Amino acid sequence: MTRRTDRHTAAEDQIPAPAPADDRGGFWAEQAARLHWDTPWTRVLDWSDAPFAKWFADGRLNVAYNCVDRHVEAGHGDQVAFHWEGEPGDTRNITYADLQREVSRTANALLSLGLATGDRVAIQLPMIPEAVFAMLACARLGLPHSVVFGGFSPAALQSRIEDAEAKLLITADGQYRRGQAVAMKDGTDEAVAHTPSIEHVLVVRRTGSAVAWTEGRDLWWHDLVDAQADTHTPEAFDAEHPLFILYTSGTTGKPKGILHTSGGYLTQAAYSHRAAFDHRAGQDVYWCTADIGWITGHSYIVYGPLANRATSVMYEGTPNTPHEGRHFEIIQKYGVSIYYTAPTLIRTFMKWGEDIPARYDLSSLRVLGSVGEPINPQAWLWYREHLGGNRTPVVDTWWQTETGAIMIAPLPGTGLAPKPGSAQTPLPGISAKVVDDQGVEVGKGESGYLVLDRPWPAMLRGVWGDTERYRETYWSRFAQQGYYFAGDGARYDEDGDIWLLGRVDDVMNVSGHRISTAEVESALVSHPSVAEAAVVGATDATTGQAIVAFVILRGSAADGSAEAADTITALRNHVAQEIGPIAKPRQVMVVPELPKTRSGKIMRRLLRDVAEQREIGDVTTLADASVMSLINNGLGGPA
Ligand code: WTA
Repeated sequence: MTRRTDRHTAAEDQIPAPAPADDRGGFWAEQAARLHWDTPWTRVLDWSDAPFAKWFADGRLNVAYNCVDRHVEAGHGDQVAFHWEGEPGDTRNITYADLQREVSRTANALLSLGLATGDRVAIQLPMIPEAVFAMLACARLGLPHSVVFGGFSPAALQSRIEDAEAKLLITADGQYRRGQAVAMKDGTDEAVAHTPSIEHVLVVRRTGSAVAWTEGRDLWWHDLVDAQADTHTPEAFDAEHPLFILYTSGTTGKPKGILHTSGGYLTQAAYSHRAAFDHRAGQDVYWCTADIGWITGHSYIVYGPLANRATSVMYEGTPNTPHEGRHFEIIQKYGVSIYYTAPTLIRTFMKWGEDIPARYDLSSLRVLGSVGEPINPQAWLWYREHLGGNRTPVVDTWWQTETGAIMIAPLPGTGLAPKPGSAQTPLPGISAKVVDDQGVEVGKGESGYLVLDRPWPAMLRGVWGDTERYRETYWSRFAQQGYYFAGDGARYDEDGDIWLLGRVDDVMNVSGHRISTAEVESALVSHPSVAEAAVVGATDATTGQAIVAFVILRGSAADGSAEAADTITALRNHVAQEIGPIAKPRQVMVVPELPKTRSGKIMRRLLRDVAEQREIGDVTTLADASVMSLINNGLGGPA
């Protein structure tokens, strides 16, 4: 683990010479060999059809077998895989042997519905064990899953089901949020009313609330799954068999279905989980606080930890239900030794006060992780002091839905001097660079764009159903050099360590969630009172960025009358309804005009100045330079 094949020395190795001495292949072969392969591969990487990679292509394996059965066969059936905590306080301890039975039953249930290898399954579930059973049952049968975050709207679910033409939807009657039972099936019913590809809806009873029922289409999980045999023999699939599709926001209004496959993905998910957190099977109690609806939940609640035979905590609810010490109480209760969360939650803990963690015994913590956005040094230091007792490493992990697994992080135990706020250095086997506009690597102390200059095992294999969009989005910016463009700005410090600086495109990062400005704009203009909208991400002390919308209203709504306040509330709610509550703008400002260039492009930079109450920057490229004073005069303060 101390092996470091690719420590950056900034400007020294500028051009992507395909180094013959490069031992990445050997490194990843070693990592892949830790999995069980039914048919061993003969070739590590085939990059001949770049940017379409094939890793371990002639090997065959079953991902679910690797995550579950092989641990049971090796005598670890009694080890807990998940300590699950429901929000209302109900709990479940699920051993690897339990998991094997549950996944087998679920797989048998899916087979009984006539699903065949390659069919897509959509999953919208709360953070309950059935979510894991469902994902692993899909993996076991070679059915690519598409998990949709529980907070997404019916419209968002519908478009994801349509794009993947899913045949089955797995959902729940409701979910617990902040102490309340909230309906879920109402929303999923609304979505599937318009999706002819869906043949069945499998429903977990979680809250016991009344639901509408469509005979023939809807099936209760406890009727169908519980009645199945609890054994199932897994079949091996090609290493490049699709494992899942996960939708993420891009720079246009339509989310992209990021496609991940099996062998390479599992290899890197497992390796990075072991290395980044120094995970020790059978000893650690590991807790990743993400939701399974995001990539972090896929790679670091389900696939990576299970491949490594981790004992994990899984928690259903919000961090302050029923009180603000809930997470610390859970850490104390289970003796959590590795805790992986997001800067936005750390900043929320800071706001709640350090006396709250101080009430609990957190001495079991050994490694702390962070993901989702750049972690500000203040939050990093607070995290280490008040959770880690100034003992633990804080591992800042940079990666993306597209990278599938952690790419840049200071590995604990490798003697790296900690740098609060820096993800520091690519993992062994991974290569990253910071380059300028021309694709030339920048020097120490300089900033530029983050690129990945070599393929990696867990890389996305494409955008579902849209080959061109895959090339265009990730590979056209530095086509000449063949670099993957991550969409993030970054800087080398004087030691050549990497500091992430946030997105350089029109993607916002709100509490670690990616939301595109275009998506929110199209939700806004779908409201009858809106003529035009422009959205920016403004710096926010808790959520990293917050969504600020500028709208031009139509007709009478534009009069600035008493109805204006109602309209603003209605617009914020409209966006929440169209996309989901995470996309609700913090502010909506009604303006008479939007700043545009002569070619009609909205100058978001200027709107960001307004949103962050800064002096307005250079306006010389505006078609009409007076627009900004018009906007500013009309606003007289945030709406
Ligand atoms: C940002 C989440 C700085 C970044 C795993 C990236 C980060 C986007 C970090 C991906 C980090 C994630 N430091 N920025 N440690 N982790 N990001 O697809 O802008 O939801 O491009 O994947 O989050 O978000 P995604």
